Amino acid sequence: MSFGPKAAQRLANKVVLITGASSGIGEATAREFASAANGNISLILAARREDKLTTLKADLIQQYPEIKVLSRVLDVSKTSSILSFVKGLPEDFADVSVLVNNAGKALGRSEVGQLKAEDVSEMLDTNVLGLITLTNALLPHFRAKNRGDIVNVGSIAGREAYPGGSIYCASKAAIRAFTGALRKETINSRIRVLEVDPGAVLTEFSVVRNYGDKAAADKVYEDTEPLGPEDIAEAIVFGVTRNLKVVIAETLIFPTHQAGAGVLHRGSLGQ
Ligand SMILES: NC(=O)c1ccc[n+]([C@@H]2O[C@H](COP(=O)([O-])OP(=O)(O)OC[C@H]3O[C@@H](n4cnc5c(N)ncnc54)[C@H](OP(=O)(O)O)[C@@H]3O)[C@@H](O)[C@H]2O)c1
Repeated sequence: MSFGPKAAQRLANKVVLITGASSGIGEATAREFASAANGNISLILAARREDKLTTLKADLIQQYPEIKVLSRVLDVSKTSSILSFVKGLPEDFADVSVLVNNAGKALGRSEVGQLKAEDVSEMLDTNVLGLITLTNALLPHFRAKNRGDIVNVGSIAGREAYPGGSIYCASKAAIRAFTGALRKETINSRIRVLEVDPGAVLTEFSVVRNYGDKAAADKVYEDTEPLGPEDIAEAIVFGVTRNLKVVIAETLIFPTHQAGAGVLHRGSLGQ
């Protein structure tokens, strides 16, 4: 999507840090920022899979020769590494002004009583503690500059809990509570806090949730028309490129056939 010259101007020379940039919504968001800024932007791409980040970086540079891209391996669930990650950003990239907290996952669909301790920890450490720790590490910088956008990727799961989703839903509800408190804490500043809550999006999300079982993941989207990651990326970039006095505080985005967590129409929607 093209956001036009006003958006490009508003993004000019910004430094945008995106977690979970190696696939899905994070990758699409990196591409959307690059496009909306016509390459006049600096992107920090963070995730665990270095090869994916390197490929994305090369792709972006080929498409937008003037863009600045830093790819950094970061496991947000290893919260003790986050402060040194932030402090270790090279000078060119240290003045972060947009943080997209996107890294996240669901693991399994076990009900309570059958939960695997390692899945519980991984979901909470990644989705909740990682997001909180990174935001906490960057906020003093945003405060000092009296500006900055924090975009937290939540989920419909944070608004409506469903069976088999206790921990994932709890993690996204925690993000929602954290985001709400942060927005209230920062109203005495130019800092903007946005939450984007997707419904069903076709990414690696369900493959990860099903422990790599692609056939099981495909079943999730059978006979439906899920969103693409670019649909969420558009909403993120739209929010960040509004006039500075505007905060698109919350955005809930469904595909047409969805109206809630697990409320999906399967089959044709007609012409
Ligand atoms: N897809 C959906 O239907 C949907 C719906 C609502 C909300 N969401 C949310 O959207 C966000 C992005 O998910 P997606 O759909 O784009 O799924 P995805 O394609 O699986 O992408 C997830 C991203 O998170 C990264 N990640 C996972 N664990 C990480 C860790 N410990 N440290 C750093 N990065 C990590 C992954 O990269 P590495 O594996 O390389 O680290 C990957 O880049 C998540 O927060 C998810 O909960 C998705």
